[in-house]
Amino acid sequence: MPSIVDLIAVSRAYGPRLALDDVHLALEPGELAFLVGPSGAGKTTLLKLINREIRPTNGEVWVDGIAAHSLKPSRVPDLRRRVGVVFQDYKLLPRLTARENVALALQVGDLRVSDQEASERAIDALDAVGLGDRGASFPHQLSGGQQQRVAVARAVVAQPPLLIADEPTGNLDLENSWELMDLFADVGAFGTAVLIATHNVEIVTRLQRRVLTLVAGRLVRDQPAGKTGRLAWLATS
Ligand SMILES: Nc1ncnc2c1ncn2[C@@H]1O[C@H](COP(=O)(O)OP(=O)(O)O)[C@@H](O)[C@H]1O
Ligand SMILES: [Mg+2]
Repeated sequence: MPSIVDLIAVSRAYGPRLALDDVHLALEPGELAFLVGPSGAGKTTLLKLINREIRPTNGEVWVDGIAAHSLKPSRVPDLRRRVGVVFQDYKLLPRLTARENVALALQVGDLRVSDQEASERAIDALDAVGLGDRGASFPHQLSGGQQQRVAVARAVVAQPPLLIADEPTGNLDLENSWELMDLFADVGAFGTAVLIATHNVEIVTRLQRRVLTLVAGRLVRDQPAGKTGRLAWLATS
């Protein structure tokens, strides 16, 4: 089966500074992996390349068979439909309800989805993250943990083959962080591959999933799932 993400000799410079340096990485369909490393290691840059927010300076970025590195701007929506995104600060629209936030994502991705269908699928997605009864709530009426779960519902409502998350537990306490990580594992169980950039060493170590370690733009370690071991960057940070 072809990989869902394939980075081939990827480098990315910001002016003279190399944020990613010759990175090779393949993520298989349905696989969940963590991306760790000290601040400034290049985690966000790597996720932005996958989502085609930026392009590589060198190398190839393939996402579900699409060449993100050479994608024309007019084709970017084809890529974005395949990638659900979760951010540290949730990024929900404050004037829309939870249900409307999720439904809107579906209709932006596919203009043929009717209001009624979008609404029904939004409620199903909210149900799946444990918030089926909070569809009418506005973001400010929800806790941080709940808002982030709405953001996950929004990211998966169109059933993308890939979900990327950049420091998704950065604003959450430990209990909410664990619940969110459980949710990501559930998403993976439905065949969506998940790539999570995180600083949360405790969670990463205990979950025993694949761990990719970036240090100064280089992928210095790729630890398979099920292996315990000291995370390499702990020694350097
Ligand atoms: N827009 C930008 N302009 C200039 N330098 C940037 C920009 N974005 C990131 N960088 C630099 O690239 C490197 C990697 O950053 P980033 O990908 O944000 O790392 P991480 O997410 O691991 O903290 C850092 O040295 C950072 O300062
Ligand atoms: Mg970052």
